[in-house]
Amino acid sequence: MDHVFLQDVLAGLRLPQKALPPKYFYDQQGSAYFDQICQLDEYYPYRTELGLLPEVARELKHYFERASVSSLQLVEFGAGSLHKVKPVLEELSMVDEFVALDISGEHLKEASSDLAEAFPQLTIKVVQGDFTQPMQMELSSATPMGFFPGSTIGNFEPEEAVEFLRNAGTTLGEESYLLLGVDTKKDRAILEPAYNDSKGVTALFNKNILTRINRELDGNFDLDQFEHTAIYNQQLGRIEMHLRSLTKQEVSIAGERFQFAEGETIHTENSYKYHPEEFERLASRAGWSPESVWLAADGIFAIMLLRRSAAGR
Ligand SMILES: C[S@@+](CC[C@H](N)C(=O)[O-])C[C@H]1O[C@@H](n2cnc3c(N)ncnc32)[C@H](O)[C@@H]1O
Repeated sequence: MDHVFLQDVLAGLRLPQKALPPKYFYDQQGSAYFDQICQLDEYYPYRTELGLLPEVARELKHYFERASVSSLQLVEFGAGSLHKVKPVLEELSMVDEFVALDISGEHLKEASSDLAEAFPQLTIKVVQGDFTQPMQMELSSATPMGFFPGSTIGNFEPEEAVEFLRNAGTTLGEESYLLLGVDTKKDRAILEPAYNDSKGVTALFNKNILTRINRELDGNFDLDQFEHTAIYNQQLGRIEMHLRSLTKQEVSIAGERFQFAEGETIHTENSYKYHPEEFERLASRAGWSPESVWLAADGIFAIMLLRRSAAGR
């Protein structure tokens, strides 16, 4: 039994508002569900960011040529299925090493063998790790550039996002860059269906955390007695995903018992949305200066290039 997983789950379910860390969605099955989410009509962030990346990468190539940067080491955090790095590598010819980090190690390993076939000249390193913990990274002599797509930064509380950005700066070192995807604030009529799709795939993804607890931590959640919910909390600028108990029930995990009232929820994920300027202020608190911002049509998604500023050193 993974004791860190167990302790995180027990601590989360002892809170007055029960909560579970979203990183535990992702085992092989969870990663496969996320890939299915990316293909849904309602899930605009994936296709919007993917559609913007070729233009971003072309402009980055000119930017680095002008800055006389001839060699880059690209480090992707939460790399998943490695779909987003492909358009970047196709344009950004100065990348000679790619490091992919993800908590879902088996899934990442499979994805990286496809990438190796597509880019045979590239040095690829795969790291199974948790980016909420201090990260050990072997830096090459090339200029480091972090890559954090998928608006995964929105899964952190804003203060945790500052901490992540600070740690990423420490990991990547002096004279580094960070390219990241940020989902912007918009109408709930677009936001809510993206996390509450008509095919019920997001519900399966959300419940996968309970399946993992049952299998890996000797739990006895009845999945049919919980329903997936996703609402936009406009005041806090975040989508909240919960699992709501459909009845009064008791659940046991590794021998500890938890009571659920009918309607009580487990808060499983936040997805914060930011105005680009709002995110730039947050990044600058962590020692990163905005170099460029690319906006998708109607401003529904932003990709930003950040550079480590003197204040962050
Ligand atoms: C929202 S998905 C984004 C995937 C991909 N980057 C994309 O843009 O389509 C989040 C990714 O981060 C990974 N992840 C989540 N929490 C993590 C953590 N604490 N440490 C490392 N990887 C994590 C997940 O396994 C998943 O691949």
